[in-house]
Amino acid sequence: MSLDTFRGLSILLLVLSRTLAPGSRPSFSKTLQTLRRDVTTVARDLFGTPLPPAFSREPLARHLLSQPLQRGLTPKSLVVESVVHEATDVVSLHLVDPSGAAVTFEPGQFFTVLTTMANGEVLKRAYSLSMPPRDGESASRARITVKRVADGKVSNHIHNQLESGQTLTVLGPSGNFGVSAEEAADKHLLLIAGGSGITPIRSIVEARLRDSNATATLIFGNRSEDHIVFRNELDSIAREFQGRFAIKHLLESAPLGWNGGVGRLDVSTAEREIAAAINSSLAAGRNTLVLSCGPAKMMENVREALARLNFDSSGLREELFSSPEDRKETVKTTPQPVTFLVRGRTIDAVTGAGQTVLEAGLAAGANMSFSCTMGGCGRCKVKLKKGQVTAEEPNCLTESERSQGYVLACVSRAKEPLVVEVL
Ligand code: FES
Repeated sequence: MSLDTFRGLSILLLVLSRTLAPGSRPSFSKTLQTLRRDVTTVARDLFGTPLPPAFSREPLARHLLSQPLQRGLTPKSLVVESVVHEATDVVSLHLVDPSGAAVTFEPGQFFTVLTTMANGEVLKRAYSLSMPPRDGESASRARITVKRVADGKVSNHIHNQLESGQTLTVLGPSGNFGVSAEEAADKHLLLIAGGSGITPIRSIVEARLRDSNATATLIFGNRSEDHIVFRNELDSIAREFQGRFAIKHLLESAPLGWNGGVGRLDVSTAEREIAAAINSSLAAGRNTLVLSCGPAKMMENVREALARLNFDSSGLREELFSSPEDRKETVKTTPQPVTFLVRGRTIDAVTGAGQTVLEAGLAAGANMSFSCTMGGCGRCKVKLKKGQVTAEEPNCLTESERSQGYVLACVSRAKEPLVVEVL
């Protein structure tokens, strides 16, 4: 078979997968897309243009790969087109789906990157998509942005070893941080970011300025000028949407001649800056919606500042990512019986030592939803009817969800016998 024959077959599969009549089974279209990707990969291998893997395809998180599609998300492989330095200790990975399929996501969502380390351990980390979804010929492209974490195994692997041409395995997109175009209509969006917390906000602000009539103010705190991620891009968006978008930079350490703000986003600074934004002309006659993303302490300060200003907390949305290196040590757990109540069915299982409730449920055949598998998206939320768990913190569960007995199955382990209601 010649390369042209492979190309023809690949194009035929692409056309078929995209032109299935409405009502055709989506799984058939997916199968054609997968077949096309495999044909492309084989052709490239045979004819000397292989896609070099950043890490081997096996072993991935096997318990994830073995689950039917409806229980979670299937890992997908994206090729790194380029690695771009953005600021001190921050790089962006420009990714492309080698099958040509569109990378679809909502602004504010993230990918869970699966990285196989030299010892075979599979590590998962969430990285935000830092540009809005693209159209047309660029639809198969996306960008994630990665901050190097001190002693962070995955972020250091990405910074030190990942190169263009290599393959990244991801789950997702996941997450529900953001605001739809409909919700943004007629609103003033007050975006508060600390350091690399700008990554989902960068995507959200451009998308909503383009597809709604929202106005926006960005309060962006950084340690120094070298730490400001996407500075030029943000300036360019501000020029394009002059009169609808304003940026207030705050630096802890400012150079001579700096004309932005100076200081850390502590409670009083946050209160002052938020009050100024809410009273600005961009917010006049509009309801303000606050989106906050950054280090846990900064987000706590923003919450307290909003409370001091009597801001209705229903108008606040938050995104907190943490590296497992930041997480509190969890209690060592021993095997425990768990009863899963799955929409009218009862499944009895026993968790292995150290196994999460999600892993135990999936192994027992419970149909449980999940996505990020690291406490970041809330998709694996279950209700604890009996017993206690130990959970990795921080995670994305809200105080109100905790008080109602919800837990995140992917980061919870049984401390005693459990009864769990799967939603
Ligand atoms: S799967 Fe995302 S929080 Fe559990």
